[in-house]
Amino acid sequence: MAEMFRTGYVGGAVPEAIDWMVEKSEGAQSICVPFAGIGRSIVAMARPDTTIESWDTMHYARCLFDGVFKASEIETNVDGIHYRKGFAYENRPYKHLDDRCAGFIDWVAQEGTPFDKACLGSAMTRSTLMGRMMNWHSNVEQLYARYLRQKEYNKDWLSQPGTLVHHEGDFFAGYEEVHSTAEALGAWAYDLVEIDPPKVVNYSDVYSLHFQRFNDCLTGGKGPKLPKWNRRNAMGLYRKAMQVKAPRIIFMYTSRVLPRVEDVEKMLAQHGTIKERQEFFHSGKTDYGFYLERS
Ligand SMILES: C[S@@+](CC[C@H](N)C(=O)[O-])C[C@H]1O[C@@H](n2cnc3c(N)ncnc32)[C@H](O)[C@@H]1O
Repeated sequence: MAEMFRTGYVGGAVPEAIDWMVEKSEGAQSICVPFAGIGRSIVAMARPDTTIESWDTMHYARCLFDGVFKASEIETNVDGIHYRKGFAYENRPYKHLDDRCAGFIDWVAQEGTPFDKACLGSAMTRSTLMGRMMNWHSNVEQLYARYLRQKEYNKDWLSQPGTLVHHEGDFFAGYEEVHSTAEALGAWAYDLVEIDPPKVVNYSDVYSLHFQRFNDCLTGGKGPKLPKWNRRNAMGLYRKAMQVKAPRIIFMYTSRVLPRVEDVEKMLAQHGTIKERQEFFHSGKTDYGFYLERS
C-alpha cells in the first residue's frame, strides 16, 4: 500500500481507497481533478508520464502545490517565532485563539513562502480541538513545534513526478472554456477525471462552514468567500462536474450525507457505464468509489 500524504485534516480518504483510485488511473496520462483538496489523490496518481490539472478554491492547496509538490527544494523565511498584527490578530477567527498564536500566524501569512504556509496550515489544523477547525487548543510553542514537524514531513513530498498544473479558484469558473475547446476539437479533453467533491452534511459542506477562517488566516483576509454546497445545489454541481470531457471517470462519495448515495449513483449512470462500485468502511461510515467509462 502506498504511503498517503497527511496534513492533519480529519476524515478524508483511507489508504485502501487511494490504492484503488491509483489502480483505476493506470494508463491515463492527462488527468483532470476539479477538487484538489490537499492533493492526496493527485500525488498518489502522479507518475513521470502524467499531466494532472487541478483546481481548488482554498489557498492552502496552492501553497502545497507551489511550496511542496512542485518544488525541488525548500524555500523558507521562518527562522523562529515572529509576530505581526494582521487578520488573525484583529479578527480572532478561532475561539480561544491567543495573541501570540494569532501574531505568529499573521507573520507567516505576510512573510512566509508557500512552503512555510503549507507547513503552517497543517500546524494550525492540528492546533484546533480534535483537528475540527473550530476551537483553538494550543499555545505558540506547540504551534511552532507542529510547524517544524510538518516541515520535516513535507520535505519527503517535494519534486512529485510528471507535470502538475494547479489553479487556485473555482473549478466551475473556467469550466465552460475548457469544455467548449474540447468540443470544438471533437476530442476528449483528458484521459481521466477524478471527482472527489465536497459532501453536504446536514445543511452545508464542511469547507465553507469551517475552513473559511483557515483560508482567511492564510491569505490575510484577502481570499474569496468559499463556495457553498447544500442540499439544493449539490446534485446539479456533481452533474456539471461529470460533464468534463473524459472517457474514464472516478467519482468518490460517502454515506450519511445528502443527496444520498443511491441518488448520486443514478445520476452517475446517466453519464456513463458504471464498471465498478467499491465500498471502503472507516470510522462508522462508508466511502464509495465509482469507476465509469463512456464512449
Ligand atoms: C473532498 S475535498 C477533495 C480531497 C482530495 N481528493 C484530496 O485527495 O485531498 C473537496 C475540495 O473541493 C474544494 N472545492 C469546493 N468547491 C470548489 C469549487 N467550486 N472549485 C474548486 N474546488 C472546490 C474544497 O476546498 C475541498 O478542498
